[in-house]
Amino acid sequence: MPSFHPKGSVIAALDVGSSKIACFIGRIRDENGNIDVIGVGHQASQGIKAGTVVDLDLAESAIRQSVHTAEKMAADVTKGYPLREVIVNVPAIHTRSHLMNMNVQIMGQAITDNDIRRAMAKAQSQIMAPESELIHTIPTSYRIDGHDGIQEPRGLYGQNLDVDIHIVTGASAPLRNIAGCIQASHLDITALCAAPYASGLACLVDDEMDMGCVVVDMGGGTTGIAIFYGKEMIFTDSVPVGGQHVTNDIAKGLTTSIQAAERMKALYGSAIATSTDDKDLIDVHPLGEEDPIQPNHIPRSYLVSIIAPRLEETLELVRAKIADSGLSHVAGRRVVLTGGASQIPGLRELAQKYLEKQVRLGRPLRLPGLADSVSGPAFSTTAGLLHYVTERADEMPAEIMASVEDATLWERVKLWLRENW
Ligand SMILES: Nc1ncnc2c1ncn2[C@@H]1O[C@H](COP(=O)(O)OP(=O)(O)OP(=O)(O)O)[C@@H](O)[C@H]1O
Ligand SMILES: [Mg+2]
Repeated sequence: MPSFHPKGSVIAALDVGSSKIACFIGRIRDENGNIDVIGVGHQASQGIKAGTVVDLDLAESAIRQSVHTAEKMAADVTKGYPLREVIVNVPAIHTRSHLMNMNVQIMGQAITDNDIRRAMAKAQSQIMAPESELIHTIPTSYRIDGHDGIQEPRGLYGQNLDVDIHIVTGASAPLRNIAGCIQASHLDITALCAAPYASGLACLVDDEMDMGCVVVDMGGGTTGIAIFYGKEMIFTDSVPVGGQHVTNDIAKGLTTSIQAAERMKALYGSAIATSTDDKDLIDVHPLGEEDPIQPNHIPRSYLVSIIAPRLEETLELVRAKIADSGLSHVAGRRVVLTGGASQIPGLRELAQKYLEKQVRLGRPLRLPGLADSVSGPAFSTTAGLLHYVTERADEMPAEIMASVEDATLWERVKLWLRENW
């Protein structure tokens, strides 16, 4: 796949999540788009709830801090130059998939890159709506004169080219708020990428991406879904539930603080009950009680009985979204589960049951040398943003509009004739 950035150039990813804000700075190692991570910064999100900015100042300062930490770590390589540009995730909750089919006339000539771009530009112009931004324009399959299964149309002759195109749009207002926070930190946004798409680019192996796979990214406030087939993302959606809902349920159910609930979830939580759960006792410090010597004791099974229904509900919603897409059969039998909340023990088995597919846990696969603390499933989106910009820049809407050949007058007339006759 082509790298749109020359060897040695520095790129940076900013993952604005509901639980954490993470920044990875990478340097392109070679012509194949391999990347060395040279700076990492992350910190707990502030001013952001379920992918939506709720406090501009807090969100801006959290973004600034995580970028600053990454910059400091990368300073040896960047000679201390501040970052100027970042690739940013679009929270899954603010995106929408549109599946379109575009026909362009070829008139017996060999298909060129420009013909495909014309189809993409045509699809883009049809989908433009007020209050929505174009995020991705992805050609997913081609037919020439009705013949299916065309993998690479460029160079082939035909009369008619049909292109299936997956367009992802994002809701303008929430995106503008996120962009505002980033720009206030003196950073330009070079590209936007749907969060579950980035996660898939980081976690999937080639065969999964090719033969069909569903990525389920369980984050703090949302669970993102992306379906891949034929090496492309063919659908994305989300459900507004994530790990924070589980934590809140625990805090309410045991009348304890959010921090204590979070700790209990990570230390003793499980998605499915085991036979020893009744015998294992856990200390619970009731809310407002200062005295740590007098905790309540509850059996672990009680904790599991709070966690499991929320996870089951989340998986049921994910199952329904996949079914509603009408693409479940195309997605095949494989699910890759990632995101911070995927780490709860037993979730893989539970997901297998609810989604009726083969489930594996995913984490960034293609950024060697990441420290343990930032190579886990919570950083799949962050890692994937770097891959997106090195491997998929041709799916950025602005690139497409800019690169549809600016034809001379006569060529424009010919194009018009081709399109309309
Ligand atoms: N060891 C663990 N066991 C269970 N859950 C965990 C563990 N570590 C983190 N989590 C959960 O992961 C969630 C955060 O995941 P992640 O960092 O992927 O979210 P995010 O990207 O900030 O959020 P979003 O994608 O929804 O905007 C939190 O709810 C947290 O409780
Ligand atoms: Mg996330």
